[in-house]
Amino acid sequence: MSGWLEGYSALITGGGTGIGRAVAERYLAEGASVTVLGRDLDQLKTVAAEAPDPSRVHAVAADVREPEQLHAAVAESVAHFGKLDTLVANAGVWDYQRQLTRLSGAEVAATFDEVFAVNVKGYFLAAEAAWRELVKTRGSIVMTLSNASFYVNGGGPVYTASKHACLGLMRELAYELAPKVRVNGVACGGMNTDLRGPESLSMGERSISASFAKRGPDTPPPPLPLHDSSTDPKDFTGPYVLLASREQSGPITGEAISIDGGMGVRGFSSDAGGNHL
Ligand SMILES: NC(=O)c1ccc[n+]([C@@H]2O[C@H](COP(=O)([O-])OP(=O)(O)OC[C@H]3O[C@@H](n4cnc5c(N)ncnc54)[C@H](O)[C@@H]3O)[C@@H](O)[C@H]2O)c1
Repeated sequence: MSGWLEGYSALITGGGTGIGRAVAERYLAEGASVTVLGRDLDQLKTVAAEAPDPSRVHAVAADVREPEQLHAAVAESVAHFGKLDTLVANAGVWDYQRQLTRLSGAEVAATFDEVFAVNVKGYFLAAEAAWRELVKTRGSIVMTLSNASFYVNGGGPVYTASKHACLGLMRELAYELAPKVRVNGVACGGMNTDLRGPESLSMGERSISASFAKRGPDTPPPPLPLHDSSTDPKDFTGPYVLLASREQSGPITGEAISIDGGMGVRGFSSDAGGNHL
């Protein structure tokens, strides 16, 4: 049986780890070729080395804050795989829920500049570098959004503002690039990845995976309707396939699919109305 993305060519920023890598592997399984972009070339090369068909993976070292590097990555994608059908804008950093009241003015300024440069400018620049090729293929952009694109406390104010900004960017580009290019988002909830913090807060080496590792058998489940839902990024890849596929989601643009254990339908008196079932 053929996959949903047979013959597609996708470029994934932050494709060496976490949800980016999981999407790369899922796209490969669906028949696509992928260009994975990130800052650590050795890490990206392991995606190719561990793929069932390494010839369908190309690794590009680039920083998403650098427009020329993104243009070069798009050109390499096209040189390798003949075209570009899908851009997955995904590379990001978290702020470890650092509250405004725990930051000095100088720290706010530095953290804002760093987090917005990666999370928001990085998506802008990737879209700018890719849209011409996507117009040619009637392709699409899929942005990794977050529960923090809609709700509070999934980050501190800097991260939450950055992910709200990505939601606005997704919607505006969906308007601007229609009818040729669709633009959608996947609003992920908590995932056990290697998500790092801002270097400006000396959190560049801190990984969200350490927070997951601290959770023991007695840790209460998060207050979500689907409180036993997975945190494995592999289980978050379905909407990325759906939204990339012209056949499966051709009329969808400007939409975010939330994949977060039901954050939007939490109850007041209990997390899930069916706990007794
Ligand atoms: N982990 C979660 O709980 C969670 C929840 C919701 C949304 N997200 C979002 O998912 C996306 C991916 O994060 P993840 O959780 O997979 O973490 P991750 O750290 O495993 O993946 C992020 C990738 O982006 C890369 N990256 C960071 N800065 C970069 C830069 N300047 N240039 C190029 N690459 C850069 C990192 O090296 C890494 O490979 C982010 O946008 C994050 O905000 C994560």
